[in-house]
Amino acid sequence: MAADKAVDSLSEQLAQLPPLDRYPNCYPEINPLTTILHQITGVDTKIIYGALQWTQALAHGDMMLPIPALRVKGKPQELGEQWLEKWPGSPLVEKPVVTGGFMPIFFKPGPLAKALIPLARRLGPEYGKNKANGLKDPSDPPKGQKRIVVEFSSPNIAKPFHAGHLRSTIIGGFLAKLYEGSGWDVKRINYLGDWGKQYGLLSLGFDKYGSDEELEKDPINHLFHVYVKINEDVSAEKQQMEKLQSEGKTEEAQRLKDEGLDEQARRYFKLMTERDQAAIERWQKFRALSITKYKETYKRLNIEFDEYSGESQVPEETMKEVTATLLEKGIAEESDGALIINFAKHVPGKAGKALEKPVVRKKDGTALYLTRDISELLNRAERYQFDKMIYVIASQQDLHVKQFFKIVELMGHKELADRCQHINFGLVLGMSTRRGTVKFLDDILRDVGDFMHDLMRKNEEKYKQVENPHAVADTVGISAVMVQDMTGKRINNYKFDMDTMCSFEGDTGPYLQYAHARLCSITRKAQLSEEEIAGADLSLLTEQHATDLVRVLAQWPDVVQNTLKTLEPTTILTYLFKMTHVLSSSYDHLKIVGSEPGLMRARMALYDTARLVLNNGMRLLGLTPVERM
Ligand code: ARG
Repeated sequence: MAADKAVDSLSEQLAQLPPLDRYPNCYPEINPLTTILHQITGVDTKIIYGALQWTQALAHGDMMLPIPALRVKGKPQELGEQWLEKWPGSPLVEKPVVTGGFMPIFFKPGPLAKALIPLARRLGPEYGKNKANGLKDPSDPPKGQKRIVVEFSSPNIAKPFHAGHLRSTIIGGFLAKLYEGSGWDVKRINYLGDWGKQYGLLSLGFDKYGSDEELEKDPINHLFHVYVKINEDVSAEKQQMEKLQSEGKTEEAQRLKDEGLDEQARRYFKLMTERDQAAIERWQKFRALSITKYKETYKRLNIEFDEYSGESQVPEETMKEVTATLLEKGIAEESDGALIINFAKHVPGKAGKALEKPVVRKKDGTALYLTRDISELLNRAERYQFDKMIYVIASQQDLHVKQFFKIVELMGHKELADRCQHINFGLVLGMSTRRGTVKFLDDILRDVGDFMHDLMRKNEEKYKQVENPHAVADTVGISAVMVQDMTGKRINNYKFDMDTMCSFEGDTGPYLQYAHARLCSITRKAQLSEEEIAGADLSLLTEQHATDLVRVLAQWPDVVQNTLKTLEPTTILTYLFKMTHVLSSSYDHLKIVGSEPGLMRARMALYDTARLVLNNGMRLLGLTPVERM
């Protein structure tokens, strides 16, 4: 009886803690586990708190204390045994057994359920989030919020939205949500590829092949169509030129060179950089219409940008200043009329050589991708005053990113460069659509949605119950694409495989959606009121399946916390699959319908917590959980 009271008062205390807002300090002093460990070891609670780890498998405990991490002299096994002799007993924690250098810690299942379920249900969408991570100083009093800029997606206007952009979009969208959930002030930037000679060419192409009507209707595909056409003309001209040269008609070949499309494009682009009104107006229109379309697609992925920046938005002035500084500081040097950086001279050893000798200004004075990135970074530092900036860019551009971070550092902004991080990722292999080879994001999503719809129709009974099957197929299809993308570590390549990703078996998006829809259906069928669930007697959750599920659900905040370190969506996904596996194996053992009312309420409270965690996890990944499918 006394023990029961202790549990109840502990649960009450835990439930009344403010929503984890002091984490990571997280009141180690009143954390029951750190308090006990302090009592038996004499080690400072903060050290204990920092040493405690979560575990991968339930069999290894709920928490794990690596004894050497407490930095006490002695043999770990012996120290552990000595300490445990002083174990005072606890309403929440079982007495541990030391194995090797480790002390696995198991929560007592009953008290854990009583502490966790009401707390998680009270926090709702906030359960697992940790707003204090985004505080400049988590100690008292808080000194403002940290700001992070996440640059991601960054497609190129008039060109296909390829797999690299897809991955950047998915991973970047996720990271932005992760930081937001952790209390950071997040700014999302899309850095469009929208500048350079090719956009002069696009404008010429529009005169020849463009239609204002088509442009308004479908800017992305129309501009792409124009771009392809005019590039065909450029290739034809090139061939013609080679032919003339081989026939010895050098004068004619020269004329073609001086007056041909390539030269016209160069001149037109020059007009753009000089802000010629007509040229700029037209280009603005292409850009604005494309952005409107992009926005629609991003919306389907639950993504909204704070800024559509882009290569065109980097002022020529800043780039001139950058090249001037580079020359002045002896970082850049002339080579054949161009300006290059020979890294070997500035960075010792292999590292310098590996950075190669990039050009920062071409012979004709035009700036490059690299120079723009440097200037844009400096401008963003002013504009956003960020604490951290993340670039989500394919690993194919690793060298480029290393170069521009290093240049910023050499320019005297090491501290700024250190605040920037490149999040890279591998390739998607074999991505093509059923409607041809062009891979715009919209086409991909539509294809997967259609595929999903066909699959759903195979189960006529269920299909009839879905209110808006096309919309559901669309949402589940998007989940399929996203989950496939986030399944492995970012750096791994993966194969785009519609059959695998759309399957309901295996660790897929549709599987997660199905798990969520099933929990929603259980809730609907149970027909219990909020009061009935909140008042459930949780001590009835005694079966192994129930206690295991509670233990897994209790790990969720730690999983999010760990993800802030790995910055890998797979950290979240792996957990969600582990949780849903435990969940699905428990259905047969923890029935709701047909159970007596008390048990029904307790199990419903448990399933509701599972639904909450799954929902929170899916939303963190950028998925939209469906309620029926
Ligand atoms: N638009 C570029 C591309 O498609 C990606 C831009 C990446 N971001 C950057 N700051 N360089 O390759």
